[in-house]
Amino acid sequence: MKSIFDINFKNQKALIRVDFNVPLNENFDVTDATRIEAAKPTIIKILEDGGSCILMSHLGRPKGVRTEFSLSHIVNKVEDILGVEVEYVSNCIGEEAETASSNLEFGEILLLENLRFHSEEELGDIQFAEQLSKLGDIYVNDAFGTAHRAHASTTTIAQFFPENKRCFGLLLLKEMESLKKIMETGEKPVTAILGGAKVSSKITIINNILDKIDHLIIGGGMTFTFIKAQGGRIGNSLVEDEKLDLSLEIIKKAEKSNVTIHLPVDAVIADDFSNDANIEIAEINKIPSGWMGLDIGPETIELFADIIANSRTILWNGPLGVFEMENFSKGTIALGEAIAEATKNGSFSLVGGGDSVAAVKQFGFDEKVSYVSTGGGAMLESLEGKTLPGIAAILE
Ligand code: 3PG
Ligand code: MG
Repeated sequence: MKSIFDINFKNQKALIRVDFNVPLNENFDVTDATRIEAAKPTIIKILEDGGSCILMSHLGRPKGVRTEFSLSHIVNKVEDILGVEVEYVSNCIGEEAETASSNLEFGEILLLENLRFHSEEELGDIQFAEQLSKLGDIYVNDAFGTAHRAHASTTTIAQFFPENKRCFGLLLLKEMESLKKIMETGEKPVTAILGGAKVSSKITIINNILDKIDHLIIGGGMTFTFIKAQGGRIGNSLVEDEKLDLSLEIIKKAEKSNVTIHLPVDAVIADDFSNDANIEIAEINKIPSGWMGLDIGPETIELFADIIANSRTILWNGPLGVFEMENFSKGTIALGEAIAEATKNGSFSLVGGGDSVAAVKQFGFDEKVSYVSTGGGAMLESLEGKTLPGIAAILE
């Protein structure tokens, strides 16, 4: 594994692919700088070695030049976080970028304009990648959030650097290490908590992790496909009727793999998909028609919290209920608390993939778990067992 620790960057220009795809508000202020903060250790290590950093990223999905997606909006934020002045160029390739790069002194930072202002980026274009590659002596990939994209700056570019001049940054290494703890090296028992609306979007993950874990906790909307398949009454709860057989197969496969599946035993039910709906607690397989389950119930919370307390390695992907509405957020909050407590007691916990990260941040658990992934799609694809192209390109 080639890491930035294997390289001394003294008098070297590092061309670093970062994922600064951060959310901006209507005034173009960064509203969540997690990804910039996450890239800091890599950048600082290179500067401290005596090298310089040329940062490249995408922002949004602009499809051509669109000023609202300009990385110039984030320059001040990057400077604040790094504590170093940042120079910016309005094109990521061409004369302007090449001049700025060659004038860059060691200890300095250059931020290139949005890579996706050129359609060649997403096409993985080889000439575009070659032009980018001219800007640095060493290629560092630290963009875990974009590692599932086979784009010019994440994948194609690696071939223009010899094996000893391309490597992973610290963020990417940390993400891979956290995943490895879940999949290979973590202390047992290993528990995965999978929530979210659909069985269909989690089936590949379930198939990939079943032989690696001891407990699988299922929550969220996909619960009801499992409950209906087992003959339960789910009222008007979310269900994928075409996945009933599949959910029974998952249960069988889990038994064979010696994995205990834990399904909710009760639910917070509502007569409307609204925070103002009437609310009751029902047994999970006795939900009356006209009512839908929108969160796990109190008995389930106790049951799940107990399993989490006895787990040494924990993966959390997907909320347990409709946490965006206060009345259906208790299950997600309670599980977050249980995971935080287990972490305090020495267990390893990884939160990753889309909505669960939003939930963890909203309720302030991000400081209380071992690791929150910076990747949405990249984390999901990793959990599915896919080799991410951005990772493969460095290793090849
Ligand atoms: C993300 O935020 O998911 C990454 O930055 C990748 O962006 P993309 O989904 O537009 O490729
Ligand atoms: Mg995305």
